[in-house]
Formats: sequence, structure tokens, C-alpha cells
Amino acid sequence: MINKITKGPSTALFPVPAVLVTACLEGGEPDIITIAWTGIMNSEPPVVYISVRPVGRHSYRLIKESGEFVINIPAAGQAGVVDYCGTVSGGVVNKFKETGLTPVPASHVQAPLIAECPVNVECRVRQVIPLGSHDVFLGDVLAVHYNKDILDEKGRPDFELIEPYGYCSGEYRLVTKKIGHYGYSKKEKQR
Ligand SMILES: Cc1cc2nc3c(=O)[nH]c(=O)nc-3n(C[C@H](O)[C@H](O)[C@H](O)COP(=O)(O)O)c2cc1C
Repeated sequence: MINKITKGPSTALFPVPAVLVTACLEGGEPDIITIAWTGIMNSEPPVVYISVRPVGRHSYRLIKESGEFVINIPAAGQAGVVDYCGTVSGGVVNKFKETGLTPVPASHVQAPLIAECPVNVECRVRQVIPLGSHDVFLGDVLAVHYNKDILDEKGRPDFELIEPYGYCSGEYRLVTKKIGHYGYSKKEKQR
């Protein structure tokens, strides 16, 4: 018999990604915000989302008014800057200057890519959905950039090199150990 303890509603999902989202208004300073409420919404066309609080987020106005953002996927070695960019506001400090991260022009949007992040996803806002505490920005993916040194010989992201990690109820945790691949359970049953 499995014992369950039932609690009230909460955002109990884990792990979720913790990414660095960049945004910028024309002629303005770019900002970086750490976002954990993010994911994939659709495959064809590729649509992703980020959820941002309108209150207390300098980057909110930049994303809303520019209609653009870049999701920069960090590696484990960048957990420190992920935490930093999620605990100080771009209204107070210039996070590119403070972290030493390098802004690189994107190909389709005003927001810069973060050079040190191995994967950068350029997005244009398709829809904004206010849900309560957060507004959900659905973004059409316009281009994806990969740092050459994290791709394997087949041109796929090498997770041993990237060392991705997840955000688990307030903790940053590595997800590096491979325990299967798509469809492996069916192949095992055929044996
Ligand atoms: C791990 C982590 C995840 C976060 N996820 C979100 C999120 O999904 N949405 C959000 O609005 N704020 C999130 N935050 C809080 C913002 O990153 C934080 O308020 C940040 O300082 C806002 O920066 P800005 O004022 O420059 O936009 C997160 C913070 C951390 C540390």
C-alpha cells in the first residue's frame, strides 16, 4: 500500500529549466532575467513560452514593448550567474557589466545572445496570456544558435559537455546521467 499525503494546489513540478532571457528596447541597454517558468508549447511551428511577473521585473517592459526575447540556455558552470540574474534587477544594475557575460548581436531580434551560453533561442512574441501573478509570453522561434564547441560529431548538443541542470523547488541540480533514450523501452520488450 502506497501512502500519499495530499496538499493544496502549488507549482509542484520539478525539474524545470532555469534559463537566462535577454530583452532590449531599440537604442536601450539590454537586460538579463532568470526564468524557470519556461518550456515548449508546440513543435510545428516551434513555439516556446516564458512566464514573467509584470511587477518587479525590469525586463517585463522590455519584452512586452519590443515583442522579442532570447532564451539563453546556460551550462552547469553558469549556475552562479543564473542565480545572480534572478536576484538583482536590471533597473538597478547592468547585469552584462556586473557578470562579465558577453552580448552578441542576434540575427532576427534586438535582444542580444549571451555568447557564453551554449544554446540561444531567438523568439518573437506571438501572444501574451495574463494568468494572475505572471503573464505568459508565447514566442515563435526564429533561429537557434549553438556554440560549436558543445556539438558532437553529428552536430547534436553534447550533454556531457554542456552539463545541463534543472531547478528543483529552489535548488539547482545536475541532470547529467543518461538513463535511456527515446523508444528504448519498446526495443527492450522485443527481446
Ligand atoms: C532560479 C530562478 C528562477 C526564476 N524564475 C522566474 C520566472 O519564471 N518568472 C519571473 O517573472 N521571475 C523569475 N525569477 C525572478 C527574476 O529572475 C528576478 O526577479 C530578477 O531579478 C528580475 O530581473 P529584472 O528586474 O532585471 O527583470 C526567477 C529567479 C530565480 C533565481
